[in-house]
Amino acid sequence: MSIYYHENTKTFHLTNGAVSYLMKVLPNGALGQLYFGQAIRDREDFDHLLEMRCRPMSSCVFEGCGSFSLEHCKQEYPSCGSTDFRHPAVELRQPNGSRITDFVYRSHTVTSGKPPLEGLPATYCEADGEAETLTVHLEDELLQTSLYLSYTLFAGQPVLARSARLENHGGLELHLTAAMSLSLDLPDSGYEFVHFSGAWSRERHMKVRRLEQGIQSVESARGHSSHNHNPFIMLRRPGADEERGEVLGFSLVYSGNFLAQVEVDTWDTARVTLGINPFGFDWKLSPGGVFQTPEAVMVYSCQGMGEMSRTFHRLYRSRLARGQWRDRPRPILINNWEATYFNFTEDKLISIAQAAREDGVELFVLDDGWFGARCSDLAGLGDWVANPDRLPGGITRLAERIEALGMKFGLWFEPEMVNKDSDLYRAHPDWILHTPDRRTSFGRNQLVLDFSRPEVVDCIYNMMARILSEAKVSYVKWDMNRSITEAYSAALPPDQQGEVLHRYILGVYRLYDRLTKRFPHVLFESCASGGGRFDPGLLYYAPQGWASDNSDAVERLKIQYGTTFCYPVSAIGAHVSAVPNHQVNRVTPLSTRADVACFGTFGYELDLNRLTAEERAQVRSQIAFMKEYREVIQFGDFYRLLSPFESNFTAWMVVSKDRRTALVGWYRVLNEVNGPYRRVKLRGLDPALDYAVDGGVRRGGDELMRLGLLTTDSAAGERQPDEPAACDFDSHIFVLKA
Ligand code: DGJ
Repeated sequence: MSIYYHENTKTFHLTNGAVSYLMKVLPNGALGQLYFGQAIRDREDFDHLLEMRCRPMSSCVFEGCGSFSLEHCKQEYPSCGSTDFRHPAVELRQPNGSRITDFVYRSHTVTSGKPPLEGLPATYCEADGEAETLTVHLEDELLQTSLYLSYTLFAGQPVLARSARLENHGGLELHLTAAMSLSLDLPDSGYEFVHFSGAWSRERHMKVRRLEQGIQSVESARGHSSHNHNPFIMLRRPGADEERGEVLGFSLVYSGNFLAQVEVDTWDTARVTLGINPFGFDWKLSPGGVFQTPEAVMVYSCQGMGEMSRTFHRLYRSRLARGQWRDRPRPILINNWEATYFNFTEDKLISIAQAAREDGVELFVLDDGWFGARCSDLAGLGDWVANPDRLPGGITRLAERIEALGMKFGLWFEPEMVNKDSDLYRAHPDWILHTPDRRTSFGRNQLVLDFSRPEVVDCIYNMMARILSEAKVSYVKWDMNRSITEAYSAALPPDQQGEVLHRYILGVYRLYDRLTKRFPHVLFESCASGGGRFDPGLLYYAPQGWASDNSDAVERLKIQYGTTFCYPVSAIGAHVSAVPNHQVNRVTPLSTRADVACFGTFGYELDLNRLTAEERAQVRSQIAFMKEYREVIQFGDFYRLLSPFESNFTAWMVVSKDRRTALVGWYRVLNEVNGPYRRVKLRGLDPALDYAVDGGVRRGGDELMRLGLLTTDSAAGERQPDEPAACDFDSHIFVLKA
């Protein structure tokens, strides 16, 4: 791995055998972008890549020189207002009203490893030689403001992690109205723009469109990364698929408002920008002030989307997620939400836990409704003390009773919210985000606490820490159930109101940080009405997240499939729930529900007491199966095989590190009559090994990958003796062992 700087040509080359990233100091001192892609050999001079020509009607930087226009030049972190008319990476409003800046190269450093980002989640490294970081210092002399651009290259990985920091060393009061984490000018726009969009209960559906001249973007302005769009996009060459073709992945390690934008100019170059959404953002950068952007991660793949995803999975699983649970197979849990909603007693909970324990479940999670006056969603949020009517012995006794059954105990919180009908709100009505003299909007009957205020975060921390230290709590589900409106803080002056939403997220991170440090044994699962904040920022604190409130197996195929483009299986919270399903009223086989949920952290969200003896036996074998294979499923290499966005079939698989064990999940939504014979080509196997399929027939790894695994069943003709009848919403998990 090397980070070269060629003094003569003022060229940087970051390369590790997997990727190359080239930048060069431009004639005006700004940084120019030359290349991001598959590794190329180093050389002193890449000046030919600058491609500067005189073009008619161009605005040019220097008098008398018609060839140097920033508009026609690929830039690294474009400024505003000076010969480039595209969207900038940075915008600084100055006391005289100007937004024009001119950041000029001053110096750079190369360090081994990767420094943390103060107060922000970020990827990290553990051992010597894992990563190297280049920091380029640029300065706007007039404003005496420094810009530090950081680039971390991970050994052998086609990954570059980037961020920017601004420091005001001058005497002017500046306002930062845009500070993107990443800007990348690509020389052409021959890509498809792929993003993952949706809404509550249909998160991360894959959307593909051809890049066109103009701006295409996805964003959140809701105060959380949102169900609607995910802070992750891909650019893929037309024709690129799971195994072939060039794909670039861009992911933002952040949980608040974001913008992921591609601007294609009329010369067909493409500018990618990713970072905090400039919409509504205005950060006062006073003399001495510092602003650090969140981190953005770029992945390059010339082996299609599959390799891009596996690169993200490896990095996010082991160098973004942290803590004692990072590398451990996740406990199989039962959650009482869909079993009881708000309607439970302590004994009812124990009876659910008891049945689950009998079947092999390891963790019981008590969801919403255990605290304050919380008997419905109208009251109680903010009062993190057990309701004595429901839980006379408090959380402590309930946790002891659960532990006595031989299970671990987990608890739900929604730390950022408050109901009007709560002791917390009555004591501190000014602690909510609200605009003076205006109506405050509600979402799920709740208001948003002003997490930009340290005293608010402290108060919630104290309440939560008390419970976690008094009771035996091994798991926390951290929920967040509404978007943020009236983002105005009573604690900030008028010229800092544009900081509220970012400060809010920093407050969320601070609380996560304190709790995870003080309770390192606790497994945190993030949640936001399902997948409303399923992003890399939270993965840093909570190694798994509830992927969606939609627990229907068929709906989950699309949600989980879409999620895997950026996030590892170990991060995807997935449960088996009751039928008819509570979100879509669909009745799917119990086996299919488990076959989908097991490609995730796996658990149950129903009262097992309500199942038949036969179903309970099925549950026991599902749990035994998951215990046997969860390590491979959650930490193996994941391959997508058939897309639910393209047909009636979905298939995906995981392969163990030694490639001796593989599991293939195969799913058919609607049954067929007299249908075709079917096979699915597998991936990631060892072509030289033979694999026993479901303990029976042996097939070569080469055959399984080149010809495919036969998945034909009775949907293709007459049913064989002992063959199960094909049905709607059918599935099968094939177990392959070398
Ligand atoms: C939304 C979550 O996504 C659900 O799983 C559940 O915890 C409810 N909130 C509880 O209010």
